Amino acid sequence: MDLTSYLTRQRELVEATLDRLVPPATKPPARLHAAMRYSLLGGGKRLRPILVLAAAEAVGGAADPALPFACAMECIHTYSLIHDDLPAMDDDDLRRGRATCHKQFDEATAILAGDALLTLAFELAVRPVEGARPGVTLELITLLAQAAGSAGMVGGQMLDLDAEERAVDLVELQNIHIHKTGALIRAACVAGGQLGGGDAEQIRALKRYGEAIGLSFQITDDILDEVGDARVMGKNTGSDRKKSKATYPFLMGLTRAREEAERLTEAALGFLEPFPAGAEPLRALARFILSRTH
Ligand code: IPE
Ligand code: IPE
Ligand code: MG
Ligand code: MG
Ligand code: MG
Repeated sequence: MDLTSYLTRQRELVEATLDRLVPPATKPPARLHAAMRYSLLGGGKRLRPILVLAAAEAVGGAADPALPFACAMECIHTYSLIHDDLPAMDDDDLRRGRATCHKQFDEATAILAGDALLTLAFELAVRPVEGARPGVTLELITLLAQAAGSAGMVGGQMLDLDAEERAVDLVELQNIHIHKTGALIRAACVAGGQLGGGDAEQIRALKRYGEAIGLSFQITDDILDEVGDARVMGKNTGSDRKKSKATYPFLMGLTRAREEAERLTEAALGFLEPFPAGAEPLRALARFILSRTH
């Protein structure tokens, strides 16, 4: 399959939906809405929403009814980036090729824009989904809350900060990555499967696929922080080193870090084996996550 055109098509679909669902920048409080839209609509790969759509299709469902939930995932992800870039956290000034939210606006506005995107995500997630079985909405909200909260992404961000400037072993680092990045990616895959009407076995396979690509995604992010091109990535490289973060390349070297990401990608593809041809986008996405340059 042609992944580039698939990604472009899905990204445009997600962005058009986000544009429609997020309040206009002129609506009061205009500064807050402008900051939300600035961060949300200013680039990004849209990987998590695309995973939702691709997982729905992999189990034979339609992508369209899954769009509001897919956008909810992107709202949570973007909020996590806005807060991750704050001076109190990674203190970065470039994101998605532009000034970070707190640089473009100010810290207080960036904090509030993140808060508002987090709550908007839940507003989008409760929208009734055409054709979905009863009860699926409540299950998905629980999934989203757990993946985003202290048992998931936010918990991982806490562990990440707590590990700065201190010796960390691979077991601890893997645990950080699984939480700060893996949790949302896994949830995107599971949610897509549920929205598409997948059975219990398919959902289990999607969960394991999501876990594998989630970890490989963050290992690749660590590698790109070392060797990537900041212009291509739209964010500064060397940020982890500057903050003395433990990363996969730091702990095991670039070659072994790449091998670990490859191993996880193979494992992810293995979990998709029982799936029919409809899972082709998910297969291509696993490979993209490994080979990406941004
Ligand atoms: C960056 O995520 C933050 C991590 C969890 C590593 P992405 O690489 O998906 O960022 P965007 O959405 O494309 O900007
Ligand atoms: C961020 O990890 C994970 C989040 C929950 C946002 P990083 O701090 O490595 O992400 P980048 O490199 O700034 O995008
Ligand atoms: Mg960080
Ligand atoms: Mg960061
Ligand atoms: Mg990083």
